Amino acid sequence: MPSSLTLSGINAGYGSVRVIEDVSLAVSPAETVALLGTNGNGKSTLMKCIMGMLRPSSGSIVAEIDGERFDLVGRSTEQIVDLGIGLVPEGRRLFPKLTVEENLLLGAFRRTARSELQRNLESSYATFPVLQERRRQMAGSMSGGEQQMLALARALMSAPRILLIDEPSVGLAPILVSRTIDKIKELKERYELTVLMAEQNFNQAVRIADRGYVIVHGQIAFEGRNANELNNNELVRKFYLGL
Ligand SMILES: Nc1ncnc2c1ncn2[C@@H]1O[C@H](COP(=O)(O)OP(=O)(O)OP(=O)(O)O)[C@@H](O)[C@H]1O
Ligand SMILES: [Mg+2]
Repeated sequence: MPSSLTLSGINAGYGSVRVIEDVSLAVSPAETVALLGTNGNGKSTLMKCIMGMLRPSSGSIVAEIDGERFDLVGRSTEQIVDLGIGLVPEGRRLFPKLTVEENLLLGAFRRTARSELQRNLESSYATFPVLQERRRQMAGSMSGGEQQMLALARALMSAPRILLIDEPSVGLAPILVSRTIDKIKELKERYELTVLMAEQNFNQAVRIADRGYVIVHGQIAFEGRNANELNNNELVRKFYLGL
């Protein structure tokens, strides 16, 4: 059963610095929603709030997973991962000196994921054959595109229902960007995931997104109900499309 995520009135920051201001957004079951914003506008900060890595000063974050409702604020990251929410972090955060397979196994260190480890590993390899071929290679010696695949596969090792992906395209050559984005669409369908994807690459993100939000200075500046609305929005045209 597909899962959903609802953020209401989130305020968050670091010490006295306010970064996220009154953000409300929702990702409905089986949707792919893009969180669009240029550098420093608060995309990663919002993802940290969802994952319990940063506690919002106010607001609520509710996940509905397989028919059950969970309040996420106040829970630890470990608990949130166990509930079925995974993060592909910005910059991939792989262990470069460990092998591909060791990185994957670290994605399943939580108790709930460990019981399904072998099955999830097999399914990761089925989804990303290149990772199986390279399973004994050091992660740090893989190409950028392969490393992004590994980061995606590692997140799948905890068998998430909701997947947060923080700037999958960053640092990749254009051809790899579109391949990565295509792969995310494939994953979403194969695993029936609900996806929230932060991106600066507007054109690539809207290719697979059902809808999107534009975040500017920590506030939702625009909510587009479909790709068309996003394409025609003034802010988007000015900041992303150079029109
Ligand atoms: N640990 C931190 N301590 C203090 N300020 C931080 C911290 N992390 C982020 N910030 C600040 O919060 C703001 C938002 O940063 P954030 O990383 O959320 O943006 P972003 O949209 O993800 O940007 P990018 O596209 O560059 O990843 C920035 O002004 C940043 O300097
Ligand atoms: Mg970021």
